[in-house]
Amino acid sequence: MKLSKRTDILPISSIRKLIPLSERAKKKGIKVFHLNMGQPDVKTPQVMIDSLKNWNINPLSYAPSGGTNEYLNALETYYHDLGFLFVNTGNTIGTIAGSEAINMAMFLTCDPGDELLVFEPYYSSYKTSATMFGIKLIPIKTTISSGFHFPSIETIEVSITPKTKAVLYSNPCNPTGTVYTKAEIKLLINLVKKLNLYLISDEVYREYTFVDRPHVSILEYMMEIPDRTILIDSLSKRYNLCGARLGNLVSLNKEIINGALKYAMSRLSGGLIDQHVGSQLVHVPKSYTKEMQKEYEARRDLMFEGLTKIPGINVTKPEGAFYIMAELPVDDAEKFCIWLLTDFQDNQETVMLAPGYGFYSDSSDGKRQVRIAYVLEKDKLKRALEILKIALKEYCHIA
Ligand SMILES: Cc1ncc(COP(=O)(O)O)c(C=O)c1O
Repeated sequence: MKLSKRTDILPISSIRKLIPLSERAKKKGIKVFHLNMGQPDVKTPQVMIDSLKNWNINPLSYAPSGGTNEYLNALETYYHDLGFLFVNTGNTIGTIAGSEAINMAMFLTCDPGDELLVFEPYYSSYKTSATMFGIKLIPIKTTISSGFHFPSIETIEVSITPKTKAVLYSNPCNPTGTVYTKAEIKLLINLVKKLNLYLISDEVYREYTFVDRPHVSILEYMMEIPDRTILIDSLSKRYNLCGARLGNLVSLNKEIINGALKYAMSRLSGGLIDQHVGSQLVHVPKSYTKEMQKEYEARRDLMFEGLTKIPGINVTKPEGAFYIMAELPVDDAEKFCIWLLTDFQDNQETVMLAPGYGFYSDSSDGKRQVRIAYVLEKDKLKRALEILKIALKEYCHIA
């Protein structure tokens, strides 16, 4: 028996592909500094952990498909605190983390064969989701030299065809850390208005910006184009809740909300316990995310400065999230990432990076790049940088 063709073409995440090699290195007694994955090392708010300890509802039932009232009310409070008073339990669907919200947004806006514009490099799961739904991702290139900001409207418009249905971007961006300006977001708003497209904004890193201009959310424009806009959100990074699988989708388009609910019904329910834990966000002091923002900014500074001091590395200063795309002085960054795990160690220690090609449609494009997630404490990051410098010197000598 042969599995479906769809299974064959589903891409494997370049972020996770090398995990068996890192496991093997660890078995050999080598300590691996994980800079490959956006898995923060910061503690989950205590009030959330306590709610988990105090869980005593039995039987453990299904939750409503679109989210529990408790969870949806908590999300409403979160958006109201941000000043978006129109967001409510009627225009929000609770999802199994941001990943499901991405799947929903793609499924609802595009048919198989339709085209979805993304700014490249882009979050690698966009490719996986698009492949699952038979959607064609159309990459719009951004470059290190322009800080990965959007190109001109003329350049974007060249990629639009009668099959284009939507534009998707993450802001702050994974993997580049770029935070788009108001002018850039307006450019997209005008584009989707003019050409009758959907605009999907993935804002799971909203709180983590390091620039002296405010983050511009799609929510600021939602009332202006209510039928075209979709927000994707997640609690994973905001509250260090990656394992609880909590996210949501917001739209003022009733058909989108009804469609999202139909999609949600197909998997019956999100986790009841997870949603109870996530609902505690209303008790989390604002200082929690503020402190994390400061910590990530300090890590960003350390990582950026450290990388610029390594000969041959080309980087641009990230403005948000906790990632940096770096071009290395190697021909094939994936080979280098593998070598780091299989053939290299410095004092029984090495680093794990995500090969850059996974964030591009054409894998030859990101061939010399890696994505580095600065999700470790500063002392560990310093050591990781030291290891990377030694490793590159050795590799460039032998390669
Ligand atoms: C840009 C972006 N969107 C969405 C997600 C999905 O995260 P989750 O499914 O944990 O909410 C991630 C995770 O890394 C991400 O980087």
